[in-house]
Amino acid sequence: MDVSNNEVGRCCVVWFGQPGSMERSTLAAGGWQLRVVAGDAPARIGLRGGDRVIGLVDLRALTDEQVAPLARLLEAHSELPLIALDGSRAVEHHPALERILARCGERLVSPVNPAQLAQALAACERNRADNAGDIERLVGASRPMLEVRATVHRYARVDLPVLITGETGTGKELAARALHDLSARRWRPFVAVNCGALSPSLVQSELFGHERGAFTGANARRLGLFETGNGGTVFLDEVGDLPADAQTSLLRVLQEGTLERVGSNQSVLVDVRVLAATHVDLEQAVEQGRFRQDLYYRLDVLRLDMPPLRVRGDDIELLARRALDEFRELHQVRARGFDPDARRAMRAHAWPGNVRELLNRVRRAAVVTEQELIRAADLHLADPTLQPAICLDDRREHAERQAVLDALRACGYNVSECARRLRVSRVTVYRLCRKHQLQLAALR
Ligand SMILES: Nc1ncnc2c1ncn2[C@@H]1O[C@H](COP(=O)(O)OP(=O)(O)O)[C@@H](O)[C@H]1O
Ligand SMILES: [Mg+2]
Repeated sequence: MDVSNNEVGRCCVVWFGQPGSMERSTLAAGGWQLRVVAGDAPARIGLRGGDRVIGLVDLRALTDEQVAPLARLLEAHSELPLIALDGSRAVEHHPALERILARCGERLVSPVNPAQLAQALAACERNRADNAGDIERLVGASRPMLEVRATVHRYARVDLPVLITGETGTGKELAARALHDLSARRWRPFVAVNCGALSPSLVQSELFGHERGAFTGANARRLGLFETGNGGTVFLDEVGDLPADAQTSLLRVLQEGTLERVGSNQSVLVDVRVLAATHVDLEQAVEQGRFRQDLYYRLDVLRLDMPPLRVRGDDIELLARRALDEFRELHQVRARGFDPDARRAMRAHAWPGNVRELLNRVRRAAVVTEQELIRAADLHLADPTLQPAICLDDRREHAERQAVLDALRACGYNVSECARRLRVSRVTVYRLCRKHQLQLAALR
């Protein structure tokens, strides 16, 4: 993800201690404003709304007397992401200081070079942006959603892998973030990666890093996502798409807590909590020999099933209203609600794309309608009193089947090529073939 420093609001580092001149110039070069809180800490720090702020705890000149007031100040700003800058003195046995350090996402050692400082700020900022929500973002008051929220709370507290299952758009990634945000690792990184989107030749290096010269083009050592996420949570989306060699390396991380960078045979210790999500049936993938059974058992320690939207009852309308209200805050549109037919149509619809589909339909309707109340037609939903909603789904299914078939034909039934054309993974092509009863062997 790109971290740009010129969005709305200022980017500000509150430096608890005394920055050196090199550090001041690094911050200035990165577009960071600097506020120095030195010596006796004030009771509160005035932070302007809209500013993006990171605290840096400079331990180099911190005296024992300053620890308690600083701890109180930081506790009053529990939302502030922190970086620590260690000096040479050992101050860690102070319990208040230990609490502060436990919160620091990054720890730098003085003398720190400009690149390290810039990197730490970027990582911290990225985390802050990613974690901007918590479980409240999992909207829903239906029984299935209340159960999901209770389960998330229960699972967040234990440091075990969770396998999150559910159809596309049911909020698997949102749930993974909530698990992280509610866990003891919340001040550490949350790293999300879509395994299906990684190119098979680079997946090992992306996940586990590489040494300089490991392969052509590897001009420098690069840390993989597991090392970047050290101390935090790694979320592996579409874990069923992981190629075999990466499955083996992942198993090792889960079993031994170690990894090897590509081009190295040295073990590196990593401490990450692994959350994985899949919309395909992993058990079936295991039966078909596409997914390691031992890995499956390691990932499936705790199971979180995200219910499809169609079984969430009143949540459909709740989510639709929320989506419309949020849209209205940002855009000038006429629509301010839904008419009764639209509400009925939303309930009758099967929502194969779940919450994602609902958000898209509502936003589109809000733009196109000229009415105050959005109608079923604005949502491109059939009025259930006129037509069974099933027709729309049938059309979509038919279109999907045809698209896969066309792509397969166009590339001589080569699955890799077909996957490239459709911009999906090979695993997805196989899944779609099964779903639409397209028998590759027979077609070829
Ligand atoms: N319960 C929910 N409340 C609010 N928004 C949700 C909910 N579930 C999903 N979303 C939204 O729907 C979209 C898809 O969610 P995501 O977590 O990416 O689904 P998945 O990973 O299962 O495909 C995202 O924009 C997400 O914010
Ligand atoms: Mg997803």
